[in-house]
Amino acid sequence: MTHKLLILPGDGIGPEIVAEALKVLQVLKHEFDFGFEAEQGLIGGAAFDVDGHPLPRATLDLARDCDAVLLGAVGGPQYEACPRELRPERGLLGLRYELGLFANLRPALLYPRLAAASALKPELVAGLDLMIVRELTGGIYFGEPRGIRTHNSGEREGVNTLSYRESEIERVARSAFDIAMCRDKRLCSVDKANVLEVSELWREVVQRVAADYPQVQLTHMYVDNAAMQLVRAPTQFDVLLTDNMFGDILSDAAAQLTGSIGMLPSASLNAERKGLYEPVHGSAPDIAGKGLANPLATILSVAMMLRYSLNEPELAVRLQTAVGRVLDQGLRTPDIYARGDQRASTAQMGDAVVLALREGQRE
Ligand code: IPM
Ligand code: MG
Repeated sequence: MTHKLLILPGDGIGPEIVAEALKVLQVLKHEFDFGFEAEQGLIGGAAFDVDGHPLPRATLDLARDCDAVLLGAVGGPQYEACPRELRPERGLLGLRYELGLFANLRPALLYPRLAAASALKPELVAGLDLMIVRELTGGIYFGEPRGIRTHNSGEREGVNTLSYRESEIERVARSAFDIAMCRDKRLCSVDKANVLEVSELWREVVQRVAADYPQVQLTHMYVDNAAMQLVRAPTQFDVLLTDNMFGDILSDAAAQLTGSIGMLPSASLNAERKGLYEPVHGSAPDIAGKGLANPLATILSVAMMLRYSLNEPELAVRLQTAVGRVLDQGLRTPDIYARGDQRASTAQMGDAVVLALREGQRE
């Protein structure tokens, strides 16, 4: 079986972290019998520079035609002056939208060896293992009308629209319940139902879906409280379900609990389980090209790809185990470095994962 992959390195540190993920993929191919062929494409600023658009037609065609997409990161200060619809971020948002990738999975897992890197006290994060399921193709990110309009008085007004259809809420809720079923069977739906009608409907639909999952314990929480609980007692959560914007914000907060956003992978899935896999962190232009970036979030995104889109759960576990080993060895990129650790560059980290994979195979 040959899987078709699309590789989109993007901007900033994107190319260097994706290069390490590709090393890993090559080893899986040649030594673990993982059949794939990969095409490379342009997205974000890198695509704008060549084609004048952050999501060129050719990239979209390749994305539609493959089984899974691996993306580095998009964005950079040099594009801030571009018109909004040509900014790198629009390439990513367009890809999510065009592929119908409505379910965004963002795990926040604490590796015990990194507890000291967490912004919280070690006893608060010990055992942290939560999954944020963020709705990704609706809500205020895509609602119409949107724009900046000018009133007769000359005063300008910015407008965005928050709206969700029942069907949009229902499908992402089902994804979250399905995931909860494979974990600790606790789902907390996060909304702002004390203020927003959209949230009222969100709650109602989530409750309706819950009837099909009697084993899952469902709770609801307002987003402000959820933000507080995440930094107060994060291990109370198993699966968090929330909308596009709340999910954007809460997932960055959750990332910091694990020590470094440089460790966190993500999956964005559509109804056919085709997926876009990308690290949660951005393009980090300030450190691009210096060998300082942590490639583990991208490598762990490959593990998610193996699990969720390519039906290779065993290889996913092998890869996750290999990453755990590298951390146990004490190798650290600067974002997770603490005194006494061994400093590693982006490439050294990737090489170490490759070695750990091979060692794991011999055992
Ligand atoms: C994320 C990012 C994106 C988002 C940006 C780059 C458009 O912050 O994936 O969380 O807001 O969704
Ligand atoms: Mg974000």
